Amino acid sequence: MIIGLIGFGKVSQNLVKLIRSDEISFITSKENRSESTIEAIDRFDVESLPTFEDVAKSSDILISANSPKVALDTAEKYGIHARGIYLDLNNISRETTLDIGRHVENLVDGAVIGKIDSDNPTLFLSGRLADKLLFLNEFLDVRIISKEIGDAATLKLLRSTYTKTLSAVLIESYQTAKDYNLEREFFEVIAITEGDDFKDNSLSRIKNTLSNSKRKSEELEEIIRCFDAEELTMVRAALEKFNRL
Ligand SMILES: NC(=O)c1ccc[n+]([C@@H]2O[C@H](COP(=O)([O-])OP(=O)(O)OC[C@H]3O[C@@H](n4cnc5c(N)ncnc54)[C@H](OP(=O)(O)O)[C@@H]3O)[C@@H](O)[C@H]2O)c1
Repeated sequence: MIIGLIGFGKVSQNLVKLIRSDEISFITSKENRSESTIEAIDRFDVESLPTFEDVAKSSDILISANSPKVALDTAEKYGIHARGIYLDLNNISRETTLDIGRHVENLVDGAVIGKIDSDNPTLFLSGRLADKLLFLNEFLDVRIISKEIGDAATLKLLRSTYTKTLSAVLIESYQTAKDYNLEREFFEVIAITEGDDFKDNSLSRIKNTLSNSKRKSEELEEIIRCFDAEELTMVRAALEKFNRL
Protein backbone atom coordinates (compact mmCIF):
# COMPACT_ATOMS: atom_id res chain seq x y z
CA MET A 1 0.00 0.00 0.00
CA ILE A 2 1.22 3.47 -0.86
CA ILE A 3 0.46 6.43 1.39
CA GLY A 4 1.02 9.84 -0.20
CA LEU A 5 1.76 12.88 1.93
CA ILE A 6 0.98 16.44 0.93
CA GLY A 7 3.02 18.32 3.48
CA PHE A 8 5.96 16.86 5.32
CA GLY A 9 5.93 18.71 8.64
CA LYS A 10 5.56 17.49 12.20
CA VAL A 11 2.31 15.59 11.61
CA SER A 12 3.54 13.66 8.55
CA GLN A 13 6.91 12.95 10.12
CA ASN A 14 5.26 11.43 13.17
CA LEU A 15 3.01 9.28 10.98
CA VAL A 16 6.04 7.98 9.06
CA LYS A 17 7.73 7.24 12.37
CA LEU A 18 4.72 5.36 13.77
CA ILE A 19 3.42 3.54 10.70
CA ARG A 20 6.18 1.04 10.10
CA SER A 21 5.32 -1.93 7.95
CA ASP A 22 6.84 -3.82 5.02
CA GLU A 23 3.43 -3.56 3.38
CA ILE A 24 3.27 0.24 3.49
CA SER A 25 5.48 2.80 1.79
CA PHE A 26 5.27 6.58 1.88
CA ILE A 27 5.69 9.02 -0.97
CA THR A 28 5.73 12.80 -1.10
CA SER A 29 7.17 15.59 -3.24
CA LYS A 30 9.74 18.35 -2.81
CA GLU A 31 7.85 20.51 -5.32
CA ASN A 32 8.15 24.17 -4.17
CA ARG A 33 9.09 23.08 -0.67
CA SER A 34 11.33 24.84 1.85
CA GLU A 35 14.83 23.74 2.75
CA SER A 36 13.69 22.39 6.11
CA THR A 37 10.97 20.24 4.54
CA ILE A 38 13.35 18.92 1.87
CA GLU A 39 15.90 18.12 4.57
CA ALA A 40 13.23 16.24 6.56
CA ILE A 41 12.13 14.23 3.50
CA ASP A 42 15.77 13.17 2.95
CA ARG A 43 16.33 12.43 6.63
CA PHE A 44 13.24 10.19 6.79
CA ASP A 45 14.28 8.61 3.51
CA VAL A 46 10.81 9.02 2.04
CA GLU A 47 10.50 8.64 -1.73
CA SER A 48 9.97 11.98 -3.46
CA LEU A 49 8.10 12.24 -6.78
CA PRO A 50 8.53 15.24 -9.11
CA THR A 51 5.11 16.78 -8.35
CA PHE A 52 2.29 16.54 -5.82
CA GLU A 53 -0.01 15.66 -8.69
CA ASP A 54 2.15 12.56 -9.26
CA VAL A 55 1.85 11.80 -5.54
CA ALA A 56 -1.95 12.11 -5.67
CA LYS A 57 -2.19 9.84 -8.69
CA SER A 58 0.11 7.17 -7.23
CA SER A 59 -1.35 6.90 -3.71
CA ASP A 60 -3.83 4.43 -2.27
CA ILE A 61 -4.32 6.86 0.59
CA LEU A 62 -3.53 10.55 0.17
CA ILE A 63 -2.99 12.51 3.39
CA SER A 64 -3.26 16.28 3.44
CA ALA A 65 -1.29 17.65 6.42
CA ASN A 66 0.06 21.03 5.42
CA SER A 67 -1.68 24.10 6.82
CA PRO A 68 -5.25 25.23 7.49
CA LYS A 69 -4.75 28.03 4.95
CA VAL A 70 -3.93 25.74 2.03
CA ALA A 71 -6.11 22.75 2.93
CA LEU A 72 -8.88 23.66 0.50
CA ASP A 73 -6.47 24.61 -2.27
CA THR A 74 -4.67 21.28 -1.79
CA ALA A 75 -7.94 19.42 -2.22
CA GLU A 76 -8.81 21.42 -5.34
CA LYS A 77 -5.39 20.93 -6.92
CA TYR A 78 -4.45 17.38 -5.91
CA GLY A 79 -7.43 15.79 -4.21
CA ILE A 80 -9.23 15.62 -7.54
CA HIS A 81 -6.50 13.24 -8.80
CA ALA A 82 -6.74 10.92 -5.81
CA ARG A 83 -8.21 7.55 -6.65
CA GLY A 84 -8.17 6.14 -3.11
CA ILE A 85 -9.00 7.65 0.27
CA TYR A 86 -8.27 11.34 0.83
CA LEU A 87 -7.59 11.94 4.52
CA ASP A 88 -7.54 15.56 5.63
CA LEU A 89 -5.68 16.13 8.92
CA ASN A 90 -5.50 19.92 8.87
CA ASN A 91 -7.01 21.91 11.72
CA ILE A 92 -9.88 23.33 9.73
CA SER A 93 -13.51 24.15 10.35
CA ARG A 94 -16.49 21.96 9.58
CA GLU A 95 -17.39 24.32 6.70
CA THR A 96 -13.95 24.04 5.07
CA THR A 97 -14.07 20.28 5.52
CA LEU A 98 -17.47 20.14 3.80
CA ASP A 99 -16.06 22.34 0.98
CA ILE A 100 -13.20 19.89 0.55
CA GLY A 101 -15.75 17.10 0.29
CA ARG A 102 -17.16 18.85 -2.79
CA HIS A 103 -13.82 18.51 -4.59
CA VAL A 104 -12.69 15.13 -3.34
CA GLU A 105 -14.43 11.88 -3.99
CA ASN A 106 -13.38 9.70 -1.08
CA LEU A 107 -12.86 12.13 1.77
CA VAL A 108 -12.26 11.03 5.35
CA ASP A 109 -12.27 13.80 7.96
CA GLY A 110 -9.45 13.33 10.47
CA ALA A 111 -8.12 14.97 13.61
CA VAL A 112 -4.90 14.05 15.37
CA ILE A 113 -5.22 14.55 19.10
CA GLY A 114 -2.33 14.52 21.54
CA LYS A 115 1.19 15.89 21.48
CA ILE A 116 2.36 15.83 17.93
CA ASP A 117 5.58 13.94 18.56
CA SER A 118 3.80 11.53 20.89
CA ASP A 119 4.24 7.76 20.53
CA ASN A 120 0.53 7.24 21.01
CA PRO A 121 -1.53 10.00 19.40
CA THR A 122 -5.21 9.34 18.81
CA LEU A 123 -6.61 9.70 15.33
CA PHE A 124 -10.31 10.61 15.33
CA LEU A 125 -12.05 9.94 12.04
CA SER A 126 -15.44 10.63 10.54
CA GLY A 127 -17.05 9.96 7.20
CA ARG A 128 -18.69 6.99 5.52
CA LEU A 129 -15.29 5.60 4.43
CA ALA A 130 -13.57 6.05 7.79
CA ASP A 131 -13.62 2.32 8.50
CA LYS A 132 -11.26 1.78 5.54
CA LEU A 133 -8.57 3.33 7.76
CA LEU A 134 -9.18 1.10 10.76
CA PHE A 135 -6.11 -0.95 9.81
CA LEU A 136 -4.04 2.00 11.12
CA ASN A 137 -5.04 0.83 14.59
CA GLU A 138 -2.03 -1.41 14.41
CA PHE A 139 0.18 1.69 14.62
CA LEU A 140 -1.82 4.32 16.51
CA ASP A 141 -5.09 4.64 18.35
CA VAL A 142 -7.83 5.10 15.74
CA ARG A 143 -11.38 6.06 16.76
CA ILE A 144 -14.28 6.44 14.40
CA ILE A 145 -16.76 9.07 15.57
CA SER A 146 -19.47 8.94 12.94
CA LYS A 147 -20.22 8.67 9.24
CA GLU A 148 -20.60 12.45 8.98
CA ILE A 149 -17.90 14.51 7.29
CA GLY A 150 -17.22 17.50 9.56
CA ASP A 151 -17.69 15.71 12.89
CA ALA A 152 -13.95 15.09 13.41
CA ALA A 153 -13.19 18.75 12.57
CA THR A 154 -15.89 19.93 14.97
CA LEU A 155 -14.70 17.67 17.76
CA LYS A 156 -11.17 19.03 17.41
CA LEU A 157 -12.51 22.57 17.57
CA LEU A 158 -14.59 21.71 20.64
CA ARG A 159 -11.51 20.36 22.31
CA SER A 160 -9.66 23.60 21.54
CA THR A 161 -12.62 25.60 22.85
CA TYR A 162 -12.08 23.95 26.21
CA THR A 163 -8.27 23.69 26.36
CA LYS A 164 -7.43 27.16 25.02
CA THR A 165 -9.96 28.91 27.23
CA LEU A 166 -8.63 26.96 30.20
CA SER A 167 -5.10 28.09 29.35
CA ALA A 168 -6.20 31.70 29.67
CA VAL A 169 -7.68 31.02 33.12
CA LEU A 170 -4.53 29.15 34.12
CA ILE A 171 -2.24 32.02 33.07
CA GLU A 172 -4.38 34.49 34.97
CA SER A 173 -4.56 32.41 38.18
CA TYR A 174 -0.84 31.64 38.07
CA GLN A 175 0.02 35.33 37.66
CA THR A 176 -2.21 36.19 40.62
CA ALA A 177 -0.60 33.44 42.73
CA LYS A 178 2.81 34.89 41.85
CA ASP A 179 1.67 38.38 42.86
CA TYR A 180 0.69 36.96 46.26
CA ASN A 181 3.90 34.92 46.52
CA LEU A 182 1.89 31.68 46.70
CA GLU A 183 3.12 30.10 43.51
CA ARG A 184 4.19 26.72 44.95
CA GLU A 185 1.09 26.46 47.14
CA PHE A 186 -1.12 27.31 44.15
CA PHE A 187 0.04 24.20 42.32
CA GLU A 188 -0.11 22.05 45.45
CA VAL A 189 -3.66 22.97 46.33
CA ILE A 190 -4.98 22.32 42.83
CA ALA A 191 -2.99 19.09 42.47
CA ILE A 192 -5.09 17.65 45.33
CA THR A 193 -8.04 17.34 42.97
CA GLU A 194 -6.36 17.55 39.55
CA GLY A 195 -3.58 15.01 40.12
CA ASP A 196 0.15 14.98 40.82
CA ASP A 197 1.15 15.99 37.32
CA PHE A 198 -0.88 19.20 37.46
CA LYS A 199 2.13 21.45 38.08
CA ASP A 200 4.29 20.05 35.27
CA ASN A 201 1.39 20.00 32.82
CA SER A 202 0.37 23.52 33.74
CA LEU A 203 3.87 24.99 33.41
CA SER A 204 4.27 23.33 30.03
CA ARG A 205 0.85 24.61 28.93
CA ILE A 206 1.63 28.15 30.11
CA LYS A 207 4.99 28.15 28.31
CA ASN A 208 3.44 26.82 25.11
CA THR A 209 0.61 29.36 25.22
CA LEU A 210 2.89 32.33 25.90
CA SER A 211 5.22 31.44 23.07
CA ASN A 212 2.37 30.86 20.61
CA SER A 213 -0.11 33.51 21.76
CA LYS A 214 -0.67 34.91 18.25
CA ARG A 215 -1.57 31.48 16.84
CA LYS A 216 -3.77 30.77 19.91
CA SER A 217 -5.61 34.05 19.33
CA GLU A 218 -6.21 33.11 15.70
CA GLU A 219 -7.52 29.72 16.78
CA LEU A 220 -9.93 31.33 19.24
CA GLU A 221 -11.13 33.71 16.51
CA GLU A 222 -11.75 30.68 14.32
CA ILE A 223 -13.74 29.01 17.14
CA ILE A 224 -15.89 32.15 17.55
CA ARG A 225 -16.46 32.26 13.78
CA CYS A 226 -17.35 28.58 13.51
CA PHE A 227 -19.65 28.40 16.52
CA ASP A 228 -21.26 31.78 15.80
CA ALA A 229 -24.65 30.64 17.08
CA GLU A 230 -23.21 29.96 20.55
CA GLU A 231 -22.72 32.44 23.39
CA LEU A 232 -19.02 31.69 24.05
CA THR A 233 -18.57 34.36 26.72
CA MET A 234 -15.53 32.60 28.18
CA VAL A 235 -13.89 32.09 24.79
CA ARG A 236 -14.28 35.79 23.98
CA ALA A 237 -12.69 36.69 27.33
CA ALA A 238 -9.81 34.27 26.63
CA LEU A 239 -9.30 35.92 23.25
CA GLU A 240 -9.11 39.33 24.91
CA LYS A 241 -6.56 37.92 27.35
CA PHE A 242 -4.40 36.34 24.59
CA ASN A 243 -4.47 39.58 22.60
CA ARG A 244 -2.93 41.34 25.58
CA LEU A 245 -0.17 38.76 26.23
N1 LIG B 1 1.27 20.22 15.05
C1 LIG B 1 0.17 19.75 15.64
O1 LIG B 1 0.12 19.54 16.86
C2 LIG B 1 -1.04 19.37 14.81
C3 LIG B 1 -1.92 18.44 15.32
C4 LIG B 1 -3.00 18.09 14.56
C5 LIG B 1 -3.20 18.68 13.31
N2 LIG B 1 -2.35 19.59 12.84
C6 LIG B 1 -2.60 20.17 11.52
O2 LIG B 1 -1.87 19.42 10.57
C7 LIG B 1 -1.34 20.27 9.57
C8 LIG B 1 0.17 20.11 9.53
O3 LIG B 1 0.70 20.46 10.78
P1 LIG B 1 2.26 20.34 11.07
O4 LIG B 1 2.43 20.58 12.52
O5 LIG B 1 2.78 19.11 10.43
O6 LIG B 1 2.76 21.61 10.24
P2 LIG B 1 4.28 22.01 9.91
O7 LIG B 1 5.22 21.28 10.79
O8 LIG B 1 4.28 23.50 9.86
O9 LIG B 1 4.48 21.45 8.43
C9 LIG B 1 3.68 21.83 7.34
C10 LIG B 1 4.19 21.09 6.12
O10 LIG B 1 3.30 21.35 5.03
C11 LIG B 1 4.06 21.84 3.92
N3 LIG B 1 3.24 22.69 3.09
C12 LIG B 1 2.78 23.94 3.36
N4 LIG B 1 2.06 24.40 2.32
C13 LIG B 1 2.09 23.42 1.37
C14 LIG B 1 1.53 23.30 0.08
N5 LIG B 1 0.81 24.29 -0.46
N6 LIG B 1 1.75 22.16 -0.61
C15 LIG B 1 2.47 21.16 -0.08
N7 LIG B 1 3.03 21.21 1.15
C16 LIG B 1 2.83 22.33 1.86
C17 LIG B 1 5.22 22.57 4.58
O11 LIG B 1 6.25 22.74 3.64
P3 LIG B 1 7.19 24.06 3.68
O12 LIG B 1 8.16 23.83 4.78
O13 LIG B 1 7.79 24.08 2.34
O14 LIG B 1 6.27 25.23 3.92
C18 LIG B 1 5.57 21.56 5.68
O15 LIG B 1 6.28 20.47 5.17
C19 LIG B 1 -1.81 21.69 9.90
O16 LIG B 1 -2.93 22.01 9.15
C20 LIG B 1 -2.18 21.61 11.37
O17 LIG B 1 -3.24 22.48 11.65
C21 LIG B 1 -1.23 19.95 13.55
